[in-house]
Amino acid sequence: MAALAKIQKDGLSLEVAFYTSDELPWDLRAWVFELVKSNMEAVYAEDWDDKEKREEIMDDKARFLVATDESGMPQAFVHFRFEIEQDVELCYVYDIQVNAPVQRRGVGKHLMLLVELIAKKNAMKGIMLTSFKNNDVSNSFYLQKLKYVIDPISPSYSNPMSADQYEYEIISKLWDKESQQRLQAQADDARSAWLEYDLEQKVIEKLAAEDKGKLGKTDALIAEGLLPQKDLSKKLR
Ligand SMILES: CC(C)(COP(=O)(O)OP(=O)(O)OC[C@H]1O[C@@H](n2cnc3c(N)ncnc32)[C@H](O)[C@@H]1OP(=O)(O)O)[C@@H](O)C(=O)NCCC(=O)NCCS
Repeated sequence: MAALAKIQKDGLSLEVAFYTSDELPWDLRAWVFELVKSNMEAVYAEDWDDKEKREEIMDDKARFLVATDESGMPQAFVHFRFEIEQDVELCYVYDIQVNAPVQRRGVGKHLMLLVELIAKKNAMKGIMLTSFKNNDVSNSFYLQKLKYVIDPISPSYSNPMSADQYEYEIISKLWDKESQQRLQAQADDARSAWLEYDLEQKVIEKLAAEDKGKLGKTDALIAEGLLPQKDLSKKLR
């Protein structure tokens, strides 16, 4: 496989090759799995599943960049796919993993810049990924080092009342302004709907706890969702 790019920094000399899922040789496929497992099993905790990760790596849509050193040893890879998320064409990064001895020497950043170039060349509107909230390394890498942002479609924004139930954030870098606005608008709609739903649930619980026999007509209509909630503010105090 011809090298797509070279990474030369901090005493490292790596060649980066691109592979589709079909093209990735079996020995590299096995190495990809072992590296993710050794770097990430503790982060995934009880969510780690060998079979699921193997299937993810085998998926037809999977694309890989693999960085190999001068002795032919693979040292880092990125697994990404071109996907459509809420009508926006995005490059989704499933994994980026760097072998422990070569971490923090600029390889990860270089690989992400290459992914960005590939994504732009393929008319993608941006890059998106999920990152576990408990993965300080990954969050620092994306949010501080690469200046990615927590996307508005992430549950912490779009579903704030239930944000604690999600163990991940959706992180992105969108270079297409229109797509950015579209995702923001969709997230705002979802956020309003969740907030409204949450208020409704509180009201229903409150009314259920009260003596229903004493409910006036207005309360009953509100409980049925037939009157606007602004009238309920008095009941919530
Ligand atoms: C996260 C990772 C891909 C970054 O690649 P890298 O080649 O180490 O990163 P770079 O050298 O380009 O950038 C380093 C930045 O990553 C973050 N980082 C990397 N290792 C870190 C560590 N052990 N502790 C804290 N931050 C770390 C920091 O933001 C760091 O910036 P700094 O060195 O200026 O503080 C790599 O460290 C890795 O594979 N880590 C383990 C697995 C993982 O968490 N993968 C990402 C989730 S899919």
